[in-house]
Amino acid sequence: MTQKAGKGWSDIVTGHTARYTASIADLLAVDGLRAQAPGRIILVGAGPGDPDLLTVKAVRALALADVVVHDGLVDARILAMAPAGAEMISVAKARSRHTMAQTDINALLVAKARAGHVVVRLKGGDPFVFGRGGEEVEAARDAGIAVEVVPGVTAALGCAAESLLPLTHRDHASAVTFVAGQCKGLAEQDWRGLAGEGRTLVVYMGIAAAADIAAKLVADGLSPHTPAAVLEGGTRPDARTFRTTLADLPATLAANAVRSPALLVVGAVARLAVERPGVLAPFVPSTLSLALAAE
Ligand SMILES: C[S@@+](CC[C@H](N)C(=O)[O-])C[C@H]1O[C@@H](n2cnc3c(N)ncnc32)[C@H](O)[C@@H]1O
Repeated sequence: MTQKAGKGWSDIVTGHTARYTASIADLLAVDGLRAQAPGRIILVGAGPGDPDLLTVKAVRALALADVVVHDGLVDARILAMAPAGAEMISVAKARSRHTMAQTDINALLVAKARAGHVVVRLKGGDPFVFGRGGEEVEAARDAGIAVEVVPGVTAALGCAAESLLPLTHRDHASAVTFVAGQCKGLAEQDWRGLAGEGRTLVVYMGIAAAADIAAKLVADGLSPHTPAAVLEGGTRPDARTFRTTLADLPATLAANAVRSPALLVVGAVARLAVERPGVLAPFVPSTLSLALAAE
């Protein structure tokens, strides 16, 4: 049976569609599940910002939470989906201001799970892409706590889609690599071969070191005229996209006062980015946001 026009996420979430009435109950009824699953940690990817990019499984995990331990990058509308009685703990990290050390976060997750709670560790993007999810899984396993990972839309995928920037393209790029511009010293990282003809390089956490990153890539043999794009605050209401080149990257960032969170995309596909994605009226309405706003 084909779904009728106009029936979608809001219907699923609000239960307005008869066809979904049974499944929504299954989807979001969590009391039985909670009873079966005390004391566990669920790492949940919250995506890059837009609440509509949450997976169904992420919404279900949030509905189970007794405790939500979240990053600063998680949108407030997503946090609002946690049960009213859930304990909300922010472990927000800024580049130079770590409010909680990773070892302390690990200990917190384990302690809350040991106390019998369903702990949802809510992280921006995907937990396993520059999200320290690996360390938290190890901590849970070392402590003998049940742990599960719900993947999320990583920033590169969400931001690229919004800017109509194909990370691979048969005419331009047959490989794509994600690197961290800040995790380790830039000099320690060997990016040779990751960028250039036929390849796309996506740099996470690269804004503060963008001038050094551009210089490093040129020193590795890339032309200073290599196309680059900057995707700032992707999938959020204030998202901005800029097309530039490696040579002009620092000036583009300065002229537009680009701030984190933002991605750098280097390679021929960057030329295809739409600079003002907001001018394109979305065909897919942000139904989950609308449903929440209507409450
Ligand atoms: C610590 S990493 C976390 C990445 C996350 N786990 C993911 O999969 O997207 C943070 C970096 O992700 C990128 N990022 C996250 N959300 C973003 C967004 N909405 N727009 C652009 N970049 C974003 C930025 O480069 C930011 O500095």
